[in-house]
Amino acid sequence: MLLQIFIGVILLLTILIGALYYQIFIHGKERKQILFDEEYEKKRAEKYPPPFPNGWYSLCSSDMVPVGKVIEVDALGQKFAVFRGQDGTVGVLDVYCPHLNANLSQGKVVGNNLECPFHAWQFNQKGKCSHIPYCEKEIPANAATRSWITKENWGLILVWHHALNEAPSWSTEGYLPEINSYKFHSKTSDILRIHLQDFAENGADYAHFEFVHGLMTIPFANWFVEVKHRLEIVFCEGVEKHMAYFTDYADLVWKKNKQPIPHAGGKAVVTYFGPGFLVFKFDTKIGKMLLVKTFTPLDPLKLRMDDYVYAPKGTFPLAIKYLLGEAGAQFKDDIAIWEKKSFTNRPLLVKGDGPIMKMRSWYSQFYSQSNAMTEIVKEEVNNISMN
Ligand code: FES
Ligand SMILES: [Fe+2]
Repeated sequence: MLLQIFIGVILLLTILIGALYYQIFIHGKERKQILFDEEYEKKRAEKYPPPFPNGWYSLCSSDMVPVGKVIEVDALGQKFAVFRGQDGTVGVLDVYCPHLNANLSQGKVVGNNLECPFHAWQFNQKGKCSHIPYCEKEIPANAATRSWITKENWGLILVWHHALNEAPSWSTEGYLPEINSYKFHSKTSDILRIHLQDFAENGADYAHFEFVHGLMTIPFANWFVEVKHRLEIVFCEGVEKHMAYFTDYADLVWKKNKQPIPHAGGKAVVTYFGPGFLVFKFDTKIGKMLLVKTFTPLDPLKLRMDDYVYAPKGTFPLAIKYLLGEAGAQFKDDIAIWEKKSFTNRPLLVKGDGPIMKMRSWYSQFYSQSNAMTEIVKEEVNNISMN
């Protein structure tokens, strides 16, 4: 009984002090911005695999494009016009009109079409020109702009990208049913000067956790309690081969004798959905939380990272702040390293490094065969013995 009360007090202290700590020292502080030499960044990018792996990417959240609205979105080295017709469906087109290249995002939605601001040509959601006010009878067959395969899931407008224009090989449907019953908590956005593969490799790089993530512990309670992590990564096969699971089992142990504290600790499961999403499911004694992290590559070594946070209704807000603080603090440390690192196909790995080459092998499915750099990555994956 005394033990239970003691654990309860620890958990309460953890939430209160932890949330305060992260609020003041971590969230309050801007991530350290690095000044980049843009010429050198181009060279740095050459060392990396292709900047836009094949997959689904988030363009924006659904609520940013209500019925009748068009917005411009940067992604995948270009600009998109994203609009929602009166029927509620979304269209994603190249932003520049094929007529005389006006920016379609300055136009307006008419019915289910997008009308160009320059000469009022209208395009449907498939990109086909459906109306030219001064040439109604003779719309040329090639009067069309590129439309992108799009869908809405998880409260996001997603677009499919494939370097060889192949059709989607996997779907985002049927996952994360929690989103419908959980309450949306917050969204944050950041621009990172990294390749998105570095983010994926983070989970497989077990050795860095100890040296980079000193904060994977309980602030101020760590003089008598510590967190022991057990890491596990599973790469899926078959129809779900675009997915991988990384699980961090965090057990609480007494610092003095390393004995586990019963009924304490928790686990975080990170699911990789292709190159564009990581979904964190926290299931801890202080609460549950879902964090959908989206990566939208903008240019080589530049991506937009959006975090969408959900939690069951009634979750103690400070518990969310604590869990978010823990996750956010860890990534700040990682990002500082990724933004200055390079990439090699032949890393010098030793026992204890984690399944980094397995991760690369899994990740290589998102690069098209035709790319020379991809071939090198695949060749190296085959050559180097799996970790
Ligand atoms: S530039 Fe778009 S209609 Fe002319
Ligand atoms: Fe990390």
